[in-house]
Parts: sequence; structure tokens; C-alpha cells
Amino acid sequence: NRRDACLTFAVLTALTLGGASAASAQSDLTIAHALSSASHYSVGAEAMAVDLAERSGGKFKLNESYGSSLGGERELVEGTQIGTIDLAIVSTGPIGNFVPDVLILDIPFLFSGYEHAHAVLDGPIGQKLLDKFPEHGLHALAWAENGFRNLTNNVRPVAEPTDAEGLKIRTMENPVHMEAFRTLGMLPTPMAFTELFTALEQGTVDGEENPIGVILSANFADVQKYLSLTRHVYSPALILISPSVWDGLSDEEKGWFEESAKVGVKAMRDKVRSDAENGIATLKKEGMQVTENVNTAAFQQALQPAFDVFAEKFGQESIDAIRNYK
Ligand code: PAF
Repeated sequence: NRRDACLTFAVLTALTLGGASAASAQSDLTIAHALSSASHYSVGAEAMAVDLAERSGGKFKLNESYGSSLGGERELVEGTQIGTIDLAIVSTGPIGNFVPDVLILDIPFLFSGYEHAHAVLDGPIGQKLLDKFPEHGLHALAWAENGFRNLTNNVRPVAEPTDAEGLKIRTMENPVHMEAFRTLGMLPTPMAFTELFTALEQGTVDGEENPIGVILSANFADVQKYLSLTRHVYSPALILISPSVWDGLSDEEKGWFEESAKVGVKAMRDKVRSDAENGIATLKKEGMQVTENVNTAAFQQALQPAFDVFAEKFGQESIDAIRNYK
């Protein structure tokens, strides 16, 4: 397709500019993710691929595999762990099941906005968490981004926590999210993203929650009537590289991957932001009824019992260190 052709062109240009011959040891690596080719993950993967090809004089070519064609996010994490997948972009949804320290980031209403989230993740707290991955057979190149999650459903508009009560909601396979939804009186149903469109279409679940960019690129307006701008949790993502690839790189090559990952993250964050700003109008045009005035304070109050559980589990001091980070 046209996008693949562009990517190949960019890589060939980088090969020529870098003066390397295509026949010299070029490494083809796969970078996999669960979203469509119209998504922020794709934009990030493409920017990283172009930068890496250029930076490495054509030595490393990243081939993107999108739309969960290599598996859902849990399988992608497992794949990088055992070395069947070279690189992957995944949300923190399943990550806490592998690196439990990361679960603290999935607490609702922890981050006040994008700048706050970026400051935490790109600073010492984020680095300390990235340093935990090797203990669990994983390697993370950088914090990437999925975005602030919003609730969609097919039953009623949701502005107050009481409107959300009783809704059967697909959640990620994430214990912190599930605890929060249970506390709100919802019925959380963990499910891989690959099964979600059909589950919404067939009414197996009433709704789901995801950032605007996902709701758009997954065409959820076709199967969901109501969108509430709850922004109830920030959803970080990661660019993972298989330790079997990482351990085989020289220090210089490792530096290239780290720098290119940063370029990918920047492009991804820009796309998340532009989708969040412009995508709501598109979703309205596609027929979604959008509730903009969500009672955030009431949601936060209703979540207090879950916040108490999280304080017990993660330590109030650690939570406050993130919440108050400037
Ligand atoms: O809902 C999810 O599982 C995640 O947000 C998604 C869409 C796979 C992106 O990481």
C-alpha cells in the first residue's frame, strides 16, 4: 500500500544518504502493535523507522505490523520477552501483569494533563520504572503514549457516576482499572482489544473506554452511541525491544535505538494530542452523542474507596510523588 511504499522509499533514501550498500548487513526487524494503520501507534512506528534507518545509515529497517496481526497486547509483551517479536508498542494495560511496579501509573485521575504525564514519565520516576523491566525479562526503550481514556456505551449518556452504574464495560486486562470500575458500580469485563469490536457490535458488553484516537481509528462510532469525555485515566504506552535483540547490539547501536524511539514518541504524542483536539468533531459527525460536561469531582469522590485500596497497595507517598510532580 501507499504507506508501506513511502516507508520503503524513506528507508532506501536513508540507505543512499548513509552511503551503506543495501547488500551489506542490513537487519530487518518487526515493530508490532494492536492499532490500525491510521492510529497514533502507527505514526510513532513510522517516525521511528525513518529516523532509525537514517541514523544507522540503513543498517536497521523496521517493518511495521499493525492491527494485532501478531497478537493482542499481552501476546506482544510475551513475544518480546521470549524473542519471537523484535519490538512492540503497547499500552500499560497488560504491562502491570509483567512489571507490577508500573501498575501505579494506571490509577484514575493521577495525572492532571499531558504536560504533567510527560514530566513524570520523562523524568526520574519514569526512568526508575523503565529500569525495572530487565528484572522481568523485558526491555523498554521509552515511554510512549495512548492518551486520556473516555467512556463510550450503548445504553445512556454518562455525566454522573450514577449514570455509569450497572454498565457492563470492557476493560483492559488490568487489575487497577478493574478495581476502579467495580467501585463505580460498573461491571468490568476484561477482554483483549482484538475481540472488542465484535463484542460491542453483538452487545456482549455495553461499552468500553479508550482515548479519542483509538475510538476514531477503531471505528467505534459504528457500534457505540454515547461518548462521555470522562478523561478518567491517562493511558501510558511503551516501546519495547526484545532483550534478545537488545543484547546483541553494540553500545552505539543501542544509542541509535534510544534516540529513534524518542523521535517516534514525539510523533505519537503529537498525533494523540491532535486526535484529542480534533477527533471529537469527527465522532459527532459519525453519529456519536457526546457528553462534554462530565462531573469529574463526583467521579473522583465516588472512587474514594478504590483510592484507599491503591494507597494501601502502592503507598500514599509514592502516589503523591507522582500526583504532585512538577
Ligand atoms: O484498550 C486497549 O486495550 C488499549 O488502549 C489499546 C487500544 C490496545 C491501545 O493500546
